[in-house]
Amino acid sequence: MQPTVIAPSILSADFARLGAEVDAVLDAGADWVHFDVMDNHYVPNLTIGPLVCEALRKHGVTAPIDVHLMVEPVDRIIPDFAKAGATEISFHPEATRHVHRTIQLIRSHGCRAGLVLNPATPVDVLDWVLGDLDHVLLMSVNPGFGGQSFIESALDKLRVVRAMIDRSGKPIRLEIDGGVKPDNIGAIAAAGADTFVAGSAIFGQPDYADVIARMKAAVDAVRE
Ligand code: DX5
Ligand code: ZN
Repeated sequence: MQPTVIAPSILSADFARLGAEVDAVLDAGADWVHFDVMDNHYVPNLTIGPLVCEALRKHGVTAPIDVHLMVEPVDRIIPDFAKAGATEISFHPEATRHVHRTIQLIRSHGCRAGLVLNPATPVDVLDWVLGDLDHVLLMSVNPGFGGQSFIESALDKLRVVRAMIDRSGKPIRLEIDGGVKPDNIGAIAAAGADTFVAGSAIFGQPDYADVIARMKAAVDAVRE
């Protein structure tokens, strides 16, 4: 199992003060910055693109930036995000014609590649590409919006994908995204996740350090 990563989703940050918000969550103990890209086409919402990623790098952010692409098509925008300073780039298999090719494209630009499974997406899509991935991201809400409730079937799916990763013997991260909070993160960790995205649960609280510490403690408690 990989060391725990807490990745606040800046979707729930105050966009008018984005640089300061990202500095604040990183100072508060966050490990990665989760960067949700939505196109009003693959998902019914519109957010931020490579210019904002580049602006965070210019602002001085050195932590990994975990770009979650909810866009269709996918390939055209990947080189732009690599140039803008993305560390991890993940995409949905439904949004590209050639999943294997898109993974290779991400890696050829020097980024780490992830595949994202929606709540209804079967895990078989991983069968022939798992070994080429740096992380698998399981959605525990339908993509498009922050602040939704955790879909419980994601726990069973985590257990299935955890077993697939363990069988592969490779250091592939298992990330969960949607409805993660201090009171359910322990069960999510017990089901096999090591990388935790949380938007509203962190940015909705006045004290980011307190909520991140409570999340890490809950994960540690089930890992001991
Ligand atoms: C949803 C996004 C999530 C979202 C999570 O499409 O991928 O990253 O920001 O928000 P919360 O943690 O509030 O469910
Ligand atoms: Zn996301």
